[in-house]
Amino acid sequence: MQNPFIFVLFGATGDLAKNKLFPDLFSLFKKGEFDNDFFIVGFGRRELTDEQFREFVTSELGITNEETWKQFLSHIHYQIGDFNDEKGYLELIDKLKSFDAKMSACLTRIFYLATPPENYNPILDFIDKTKLSLGCIDPSFKEAAHGRAFVRVAIEKPFGKDLDSAKALDEKLAKIFEEKQIFRVDHYLGKETVQNMLVFRFANGLFEPIWNKDNIDHVQITFFEKKGIGNRGRFFDGVGELRDIGQNHLMQLISSVVMEQPKSFNKDDVREARVKAIAAINCIKSEEVEKFVVRGQYEGYKNEKNVDPNSQTETFVAMKFFVNTPRFNHVPFYVRAGKAMEKEQITISLVFKQTCHILFREIGCPETPNILTFKIQPDEGVSFQAIAKEPGTKLSLGTVDMHFSYKEAFGEKVSDAYEKILLDILNGDQMLFNRSDELEHSWEFITAILEGWQNQKSVIKNYAKGTNGPKESNELIEKDGRKWL
Ligand code: BG6
Repeated sequence: MQNPFIFVLFGATGDLAKNKLFPDLFSLFKKGEFDNDFFIVGFGRRELTDEQFREFVTSELGITNEETWKQFLSHIHYQIGDFNDEKGYLELIDKLKSFDAKMSACLTRIFYLATPPENYNPILDFIDKTKLSLGCIDPSFKEAAHGRAFVRVAIEKPFGKDLDSAKALDEKLAKIFEEKQIFRVDHYLGKETVQNMLVFRFANGLFEPIWNKDNIDHVQITFFEKKGIGNRGRFFDGVGELRDIGQNHLMQLISSVVMEQPKSFNKDDVREARVKAIAAINCIKSEEVEKFVVRGQYEGYKNEKNVDPNSQTETFVAMKFFVNTPRFNHVPFYVRAGKAMEKEQITISLVFKQTCHILFREIGCPETPNILTFKIQPDEGVSFQAIAKEPGTKLSLGTVDMHFSYKEAFGEKVSDAYEKILLDILNGDQMLFNRSDELEHSWEFITAILEGWQNQKSVIKNYAKGTNGPKESNELIEKDGRKWL
């Protein structure tokens, strides 16, 4: 169970708060993860009282008369404040002090930035200027000596717009906080199925010996979402799929395949292994971007709410690249991500080299070889496509699926990634958070593509909603004699 804490949420009326943070905080509360004493403070511009803010959150989440919800609500408070005006921050200080005083202790303070990214700079500047960053410094409380150690800052993606802005944001954070206080959130690291990649690879002796270029023909990663951008036009337009998904979630999926076994399962070694994996991805050269990257936009995107009618923002991206490690040298990675796709599918597949023909050429081999697929979501699990003898007196070979399903094996709903993320922040455990250099390497890769698009004046390809993206995405892989799975 957590010690008492204060959780200040910037962006308390936004989508993330509504869809993930409040529901998951509530879920943790219901699971008994919190002590009776914790304080959640929404910080926002709207003129609301605590009571009105509680009503707002209740209606946003569509919760009706649940007793535990009412108990949870009593922990929620509100602070009116403009992100660009010192006044709200000064009032916040008094509010936080009153919570400390109530508990006669310096409580752990979490500042969670879930606002549009253009607000990060003013928020961080005022946290610094008003000394909120120093935490509780009331000398009458015995814990006061720890000061800053009790403050943590969590910051949502997108972390910058390109390499330079990411570096600038990081420099600002480093000026205000120590690295151990900074939690750069990528919620994909909190997904059960992504965490399982490490366990599956390194806890089973079976896979590591074949997890290399001698056995793997290529790797495919698909990150398809059925939904379009919905009401998120203001955020998404000008950001695009490459920054929204590519720079963070895709990087984490790639690194889960590429990384070497960490020296130990502790925060530093796991993060180190992840950083090395991301650093090993070969950047695509500007002049080769047209050849190796496909950029698409779904039809009707320009008519979405808050989207520029001439927008050239991509909602789909597919790419081919290589990774420079002894394990994966020369193994192509084909990666695609898109919105408004035919179906929801987030998978990582290792396609092995076809060896069936060595013995069975005359009899005939199935077209597809062994494929190991990690289903990140939905239908979380792992499946392995093997070749087997089909029943009958005549020898004939077919493919079969060996399957592990989370639901069947563990019988319970996979918990939402943000539950893990929130708990780890409260516990001060940074293993599943980006290290500064990790982001730098991922931005190097993404920025090279962005610059390539700009320099080569790349033309965006249209695709119909509910499909698998533009035909150029198929051509990207088919010209190598391979197919998307
Ligand atoms: C977010 C992206 O980080 O991840 C969204 O901004 C995307 O565009 C979402 O839809 C996907 O997350 P999840 O957990 O719903 O798969």
